[in-house]
Amino acid sequence: MSQTLLWALGLALLAFAGADNPISYYIESQDFPFDEVLEDPISRNDQRVYRLPTTVEPVEYDIYINLFFAERTDKPYSYEGYESIIVQANEAVNEIVLHANVDTIRSVSVFDSANKPLRLQPFNPYHTEKVYHFLKINLAENLVAGAKYTLEIHYEGTMNVGPMKRGIWRGWYVDDNNVERIYATTHFQPYNARQAFPCWDEPYFKAIFKLHLSGPSGYTGVFSNTAIEQTVPLPNNRARTDFAPTPRMSSYLVTFLVSESFQVIAQNTTFNPPIRIIGRSNTNGLADHALELAVKMTEHFDAYFEIPYSSLSPNLLNDHISSPDWASAGTENWGMVSYRELYLILSEEETLMSVEHYAATLVSHELAHKWFGNLITCHWWSNTWINEGYASYFGYIATHAMFPQYEFPDHFNTRYLQTSLSFDSGVGTVALNHDVNTPAQVTGHFGTISYSKAAAFLRMTANIMTPETFRKSCKIFLETNAYKPTGPDDLLESMNQAIRDDNALADYPGFSFTDYYNTWVNEPGYPILDVHVDHPTGVMYLKQERFFLNPLAIPTDQIYPIPITYSTKTNPSFTILKPSQIMMGETLTINKAPVEEWVIFNNMQQGHYRVNYDLKTWSLIAEALLEEPSPIHTANKAQIVDDVFALMRVGWMSYLDGFHILRFLAKETSLHIWSPAISGFTWLRNRLRHLPAKQAEFDAFLLSQMDYAINQLGYEPKDGETPTVTMARQDILQFACTLGHEKCNQDSWERFVNLRDNGVEINARIRRNVYMTAMRKGTQRDFEFLLNRFKKSNYANDQLEMLRGMGASTDPELLTRYLALTLQKEVRTHDKLNSFNYALLGNNENVKTVVMFVKHNIDEIRRRYVEDSPANPVHSALSNVAAYLDEAGLDDYEQWLRTTQAGIPQFNSAISGINSARTNIAWGTANADKILAAARGSAAAAVASLTLLICMTVLSTIV
Ligand SMILES: *[C@@H]1O[C@H](CO)[C@@H](O)[C@H](O)[C@H]1NC(C)=O
Ligand SMILES: [Zn+2]
Repeated sequence: MSQTLLWALGLALLAFAGADNPISYYIESQDFPFDEVLEDPISRNDQRVYRLPTTVEPVEYDIYINLFFAERTDKPYSYEGYESIIVQANEAVNEIVLHANVDTIRSVSVFDSANKPLRLQPFNPYHTEKVYHFLKINLAENLVAGAKYTLEIHYEGTMNVGPMKRGIWRGWYVDDNNVERIYATTHFQPYNARQAFPCWDEPYFKAIFKLHLSGPSGYTGVFSNTAIEQTVPLPNNRARTDFAPTPRMSSYLVTFLVSESFQVIAQNTTFNPPIRIIGRSNTNGLADHALELAVKMTEHFDAYFEIPYSSLSPNLLNDHISSPDWASAGTENWGMVSYRELYLILSEEETLMSVEHYAATLVSHELAHKWFGNLITCHWWSNTWINEGYASYFGYIATHAMFPQYEFPDHFNTRYLQTSLSFDSGVGTVALNHDVNTPAQVTGHFGTISYSKAAAFLRMTANIMTPETFRKSCKIFLETNAYKPTGPDDLLESMNQAIRDDNALADYPGFSFTDYYNTWVNEPGYPILDVHVDHPTGVMYLKQERFFLNPLAIPTDQIYPIPITYSTKTNPSFTILKPSQIMMGETLTINKAPVEEWVIFNNMQQGHYRVNYDLKTWSLIAEALLEEPSPIHTANKAQIVDDVFALMRVGWMSYLDGFHILRFLAKETSLHIWSPAISGFTWLRNRLRHLPAKQAEFDAFLLSQMDYAINQLGYEPKDGETPTVTMARQDILQFACTLGHEKCNQDSWERFVNLRDNGVEINARIRRNVYMTAMRKGTQRDFEFLLNRFKKSNYANDQLEMLRGMGASTDPELLTRYLALTLQKEVRTHDKLNSFNYALLGNNENVKTVVMFVKHNIDEIRRRYVEDSPANPVHSALSNVAAYLDEAGLDDYEQWLRTTQAGIPQFNSAISGINSARTNIAWGTANADKILAAARGSAAAAVASLTLLICMTVLSTIV
């Protein structure tokens, strides 16, 4: 898939976040060439050996975990576990297979329901199979089908250091007294509960969990999924906390946190259970905004699903933990959601708007999982799109009801739809339902398809059946499958039932919803709709085919049922989202009024497809885009930008024509429109990196396109502006400052100096470009200033922005110091790869220093970045470096890799990064002149119309 380079580092992390909610799109929204790694699918069926048999199933777990911190000097940061598991035999087998990935199994015994021990095989009573994480118990006699038994297992394990390897792990924080503290917590999704206790660690095996945690008695900040039943003092200054039984649920949703001083930092006790935000002690009082998100979204989902949260289980809590370390953005453990602290500690004075914006969708996403994911859970990770798709859909669409100021439905397109259209047009994409077996495959399936495509598919589906019938289908699905494993067929059944009840498809005779669902769920990819309008007659000829971004991809004859909506100049119905018809075949003819006018298909880009038009229609659209006031909906302007870039890349539209259509950007300020534009332009710009003079000319063109937006937005938030406007300023200024926009750099520098010399705080919403510009321009003194501020800050978001800023240092010595900092614990492991990338993103020339640093520190980087975690951060880091090198740099880098690193697992990713970089360079060399000619043409046209405009104004003033 080396052709499909993705535009955003966010996408890279989507693939790597490995479960739950991926890292913020906005935070990481940067151009970063990256290949989403997909494994060879051929041997997947053989890999079913990774799956557990269903011959014996768990019913109830009673788990005692004794946690040891530094006080246990012989085995610090370890744990001992004793569990008894009531199981049910479904067949008369003589073997019990479950998962275990602990250090040592001390003992295993099995009892029947009369408490009589069963005989195990004398010479091999049990054994483990490391590759599969299996614990196999070998019985000397068969179990009785239908009978219940109890397993007792005694085991030991070690806490992982930091969050990246999940399981039970330890993190650190500094408390109010400036004392460093260690806490222990868990992250089990998707397959890491087995690190904490032997169990049936597949989502299918739902059971009740009773947890008992013991630790030093000074560790009083103890939390888990359910209410505390009692705390019992133990000898040796220890104490045990007993938690109430959970509802029937999957093992990956169990969690706990044990600390000295984590506490409730905000709560609303009018709810039952109370809604609480929990965090380290010196974030007390800083979570009111997060609390409001959790409160309002709980209220909303209670009403929407008509299954109140409080009815799910008498014992479940509604806690939200703000964790200083967290491998993903958030994880939906039932009753106790965990979040990276970055997203819960929010304040207008310290938080970027993009982070605040993302936090709202995140809390809503995790709360939606309480129903979609926790109450119902898919049999297996192959169908994880149901959990993640619904949570992502609700994270935007439902959140809008409670927080309209964020304009979430409009952001859905850049966040999910366009992300999916980009990824899903690669030759290596997969279907929503997609067979996965090994842990690496499971992790890989928590990516763009399961989140973005699934959410976009659900929105498209809701438009067909109407949002009200969609809601009804959710309720039927949840009620029918509550506390049970479920799957796509059950979902289809619920949707069909709601459709029948409401006669919701009456407008579409002959349309089979089941065919529509099965195609979109089981087939990869999506169509492009080719629209040819015969203007004199008004006949519109539509034709579809699967869209591949790679011009060399082999076409398929796959047909997708496409919901059709369109607007015309005489009938601009952009906000009508219910399709007028469903296109079921390869072609379709629609008649409209016989007038020469623009038409635009896919109202508000709510359908998961692209659209291309005949040249005449494109030119009518291009003219309409320039009109003021604009007759075209912002969401469709954004669609056009996104589609035009894709069409240019695949070669179906010339750069000259494409840039001609895009020249309307020079008068746009909307973030929705600029987001795909910045992505598209950055993709091109990065391919000119090795041609500095040409890149400089292209940059000048881009800056001229942005001038209007920068002037309109200004350099500082204005009272009463919308969050979207604040975010537009953030993204456009960051891009403009990086491209060298003079006023942007000057303004940013002045703000930094004012902070440094006069202590005048920089408005949090614009800190990113200020810090970056300051470090580009500044000296050692400025670097020290920011580093010092970083070390003292109590705000994860501000710290992250300061890291990004320091990564933009141009002085090799300072940049090396920054890179060395990423090896220290001050840069938390979940931020290390990002921080490394910031150094590359900061300035074109930084790559030289980065390569030097990598050569001197590769072993340390591997260790500190936790390369042996599922995220494999060093794979990405080494491969990312290549994208910034010129030909000589690539040769040198390759030689170093081949002579010193050939044995390491990251070697192949790095080499494929080099190959992609060479492809990009060749592509840039071949296309640079075409692109620049297109840019010149479009700029000339813009100047011409501007001159005309000025003349006209002058004339009208004179007259
Ligand atoms: C708790 O939530 C309720 C319902 O939304 C609200 O009316 C009340 O003001 C909240 N209380 C606090 C202390 O925030
Ligand atoms: Zn999720």
